[in-house]
Amino acid sequence: MKIKVGINGFGTIGKRAAWAVSKQDDMELVGVTKTRPSFEALMAIDQGFPLYAACQDDVAGFEKAGMKTAGTLDDLLTKVDIIVDTTPGGVAEGYKSKYEAAGVKGIFQGGEDHSLTGISFNAMANYHESWGAKFSRVVSCNTTGLCRTLYPIDKEIGVSRVIASLIRRGADPGDRKGSMLNAIEPSLKLPTHHGPDVQTIMPWMNIQTMAVVTPTTLMHVHCIAVDLKRKTTEDEVVSIWQLTPRVRLVRGKDGIKSTGQVMELSRDMGNPRGDMMEIVVWKDGIKVVDDHLYYYQAIHQESDVVPEIVDCIRSMTKLEQDPLRSIAKTNKALGLSK
Ligand SMILES: NC(=O)c1ccc[n+]([C@@H]2O[C@H](COP(=O)([O-])OP(=O)(O)OC[C@H]3O[C@@H](n4cnc5c(N)ncnc54)[C@H](OP(=O)(O)O)[C@@H]3O)[C@@H](O)[C@H]2O)c1
Repeated sequence: MKIKVGINGFGTIGKRAAWAVSKQDDMELVGVTKTRPSFEALMAIDQGFPLYAACQDDVAGFEKAGMKTAGTLDDLLTKVDIIVDTTPGGVAEGYKSKYEAAGVKGIFQGGEDHSLTGISFNAMANYHESWGAKFSRVVSCNTTGLCRTLYPIDKEIGVSRVIASLIRRGADPGDRKGSMLNAIEPSLKLPTHHGPDVQTIMPWMNIQTMAVVTPTTLMHVHCIAVDLKRKTTEDEVVSIWQLTPRVRLVRGKDGIKSTGQVMELSRDMGNPRGDMMEIVVWKDGIKVVDDHLYYYQAIHQESDVVPEIVDCIRSMTKLEQDPLRSIAKTNKALGLSK
């Protein structure tokens, strides 16, 4: 029997999550919600995703635009086992009581605080914490990136301290607001919230972060310095990440010198929407000095959390006990090589 899934909030993350769920043979995408008849609502209909109005007040707008809805979010909630809430940060928490009243499990996103669910999710690092849970939260794009590369290094070598500087994109490519045109803005409240967010997944990790927002929309870049529990070599670190799911090593030597070429690679690979769901690490930008590791990674903020959402559904609905099997199943369905 397939797990029935609904998506509330069909924006940057929601439309990708809907696509990803629709590709899984153990899940059924029952419907998505929109508040208004935008091009994204039309796209949902074109893709065959049943469209629901977020609330009764929104129905008239769809009718006026000649778009047929299958009902409202309340109707959708009667048909699903789990709802993926991808409404904007801060909006989602208002929906929790509605999901609870409907007896439906809920996955929130990184824009919400960990305290909303008490459980946060990363497939490699803590898959089992969400096992059978009513509510969980897939951590933000940046936290997902930090967990993907740090968890295996901690497991294989041991991490005593991490200092990470995050060069953040100012807005998503489709946004009409957000990014400054010609300025870089440091986050002055230090250390930034990203370190504590990693600790919602790996509470033992000694990590502090700083961040600046930059006028770019393509990706975030992290500059990471790690103190290890023993000496290592660049070859050992590379061999760990070569085996780590959803981590892709690229080389400046091959012409991939910036986020621009990373996204070009993603488009050339024929990835849906040109997305790069893997965390990209520059192999020739990895440096080890005794027990210190330095590296750069790029995060495609619009898509790296998408496979995590799928795995989180599997954990919460007890579809698959083994995280590596869930990851492999999701990856295969989404066209990820490992
Ligand atoms: N974008 C990223 O880089 C990124 C990365 C990782 C995690 N996240 C997290 O994912 C969550 C969603 O972010 P996003 O970037 O996908 O936001 P987004 O692009 O703004 O999409 C959210 C969508 O929710 C819909 N919406 C707004 N109010 C709603 C309501 N009351 N009920 C139902 N739907 C409503 C909006 O569509 P309509 O009003 O047109 O229906 C909007 O398109 C946030 O927690 C965010 O922090 C974002």
